[in-house]
Amino acid sequence: MLLSEVSIGEKFKKIFMSSGIVALYPPQELIVKSKVFSGKNGLLVTPTASGKTFAAELLMAKHLEMGGKIVYVTPLKALAYEKYLEFKKYENLGYKVALEIGDLDASNLPRTLSFDILVVTAEKCDSMLRSRARLFDGVSLLIVDEIHLLATDRGPVYEIIITKFRKLLKDLQILGLSATIGNPEEIANWLDAELIISEWRPVPLKEEVIVAKDKFKKTISIVENTLNDGGQVLIFTTSRKSCESLAEKIANTLNLSSGLEKELKEISASILEAVNTPTEQCKKLASCVAKGVGFHHAGITNAQRMIIEDSFKDGSLKVIVSTPTLAAGVNLPSRVVIIYSLKRYDNFSSRYIAVMEYKQQAGRAGRPRYDNFGISYVLASSNSEKDFIMEKYINGKPESIFSRLGVEPVLRFHVLALIATSHLLKMDSILDFFKETFFG
Ligand SMILES: Nc1ncnc2c1ncn2[C@@H]1O[C@H](COP(=O)(O)OP(=O)(O)OP(=O)(O)O)[C@@H](O)[C@H]1O
Ligand SMILES: [Mg+2]
Repeated sequence: MLLSEVSIGEKFKKIFMSSGIVALYPPQELIVKSKVFSGKNGLLVTPTASGKTFAAELLMAKHLEMGGKIVYVTPLKALAYEKYLEFKKYENLGYKVALEIGDLDASNLPRTLSFDILVVTAEKCDSMLRSRARLFDGVSLLIVDEIHLLATDRGPVYEIIITKFRKLLKDLQILGLSATIGNPEEIANWLDAELIISEWRPVPLKEEVIVAKDKFKKTISIVENTLNDGGQVLIFTTSRKSCESLAEKIANTLNLSSGLEKELKEISASILEAVNTPTEQCKKLASCVAKGVGFHHAGITNAQRMIIEDSFKDGSLKVIVSTPTLAAGVNLPSRVVIIYSLKRYDNFSSRYIAVMEYKQQAGRAGRPRYDNFGISYVLASSNSEKDFIMEKYINGKPESIFSRLGVEPVLRFHVLALIATSHLLKMDSILDFFKETFFG
């Protein structure tokens, strides 16, 4: 289906065309032809890189035309920033686009915030709803990106946000987006949404598992080969510590600055300038960046994270080592993804990550605007681990999603927050509220 055939205003078609879109991807055509396009809630479950954002934007255009406002919730700051930059184009049409991602040093919330489109992280949205719910007056469309996050320990925040919005705004339309849900019917049912499913991916993604006795050596050889072929590499580790030490080791083994010395020097300096007093960590990051390797985790500042993301996008940095802070939604020129380990250590024990987390990480490889194929490599430590990974992760399906809201301390926190910040003091109204969550 051509963009020109979609029933949205010409001014929107113009800006979409100027960003290079001529025809709809199949999942986008499905949404345009569904009841979602005439107002029903929707749940779009299609592979990574299949263009869920633009599917949402087609619906956003409809709401903007009718004078509605849009809230776009994402789990990750990097993803919020990417979407914000993408939606800035609507400013040319006179719409206000705002970004709220919170920061450690910004505990104060805006008293007034005027927007037509607000991109917001889940936790920030939750705190805005608690203290300034009126900011959301006039919102007609709520887009919940990466809605499979419901199944993680951050899921309760997603549930509370969705339930509060539904209570707050009677005519609200909701659109959930995800590549990785095992039981989409149940989520669609809860949202009272039409389910749209497709297996189509615009760029082929090859998922491989390699047995590596020496994971570091293997990583170096994959990085070298990919760079020689003109590609870039994103490496996932599971902790901040391993993320930094691996980046340092790669930077010291392969100096990737050749031909890019000037750019990298400037980026490295801007990493240090982004903070008042650079810490040891900032210096470490600056030194890695000078050698062409970045690291990315929740412990570096927003400004530094943006510098790393932008420098990877413009090709000055060829390699990023990251924790899951870059694992969902983002579009990066990472033709190759290396997943260093599928085990996460917490409380002195290790466990395998969820299949949906793996699929998200692998899905960062091979993104339409950057590459025409992608490869993800999982490094296994033995043949038997390889067999296990092939069965569970490569050939397996993402797990079903269950609510995490019922966990006692989590539930207690949200009940108390609800009593403190709304006027739900009666037992009945509190119960009613929780009945409308996915947990309920
Ligand atoms: N119709 C289209 N024509 C050309 N490019 C498109 C089209 N739709 C989307 N794209 C491009 O495809 C890329 C991937 O889109 P997007 O980020 O929305 O994927 P996604 O389905 O949300 O993936 P993920 O599950 O990883 O978040 C983007 O760079 C986007 O600009
Ligand atoms: Mg997405």
